[in-house]
Amino acid sequence: MKKTILMIAISCTISTGVLANSLVKGEALYQRCTSCHGDKAQGNEALNAPSLAGQKTWYVERQLKNFIDGIRGANPKDTYGLMMRPMALGLSGETDVADVAAYISTLVPNTK
Ligand code: HEC
Repeated sequence: MKKTILMIAISCTISTGVLANSLVKGEALYQRCTSCHGDKAQGNEALNAPSLAGQKTWYVERQLKNFIDGIRGANPKDTYGLMMRPMALGLSGETDVADVAAYISTLVPNTK
């Protein structure tokens, strides 16, 4: 019994540590997004960059993968998508995508 509790305690500590680590990485990765989406991911209408703050991790990940795969931002008529796609391509692999998405989900949405 004691052993089980200890094991649970250890695995909780490890998973919290992993999560905290990916948020730190996500915050660092997000710095390259601030010029368009804003430092708090509040968005910038003048640049056509939407607010991302508080958006669900799974949705942000899916959109970033859509940009990477050319489902978004590859059509010459997709003016705003074309601005965003190179940014998504600059993320290296699924870990970066997951980390930056996890960080964005922690930001407080702008309700104004
Ligand atoms: C050069 C300006 C620019 C930079 C830098 C930029 N974005 Fe974007 N982003 C845009 C624009 C413009 C759109 C809107 C695309 C559209 O209208 O389809 C967009 C859209 C998005 C979307 C889709 C939102 C939705 O609801 O569909 C996500 C997610 C996103 N950006 C994440 C990021 C991340 C993460 C970074 C940093 C790695 C980043 N962006 C950097 C301009 C930028």
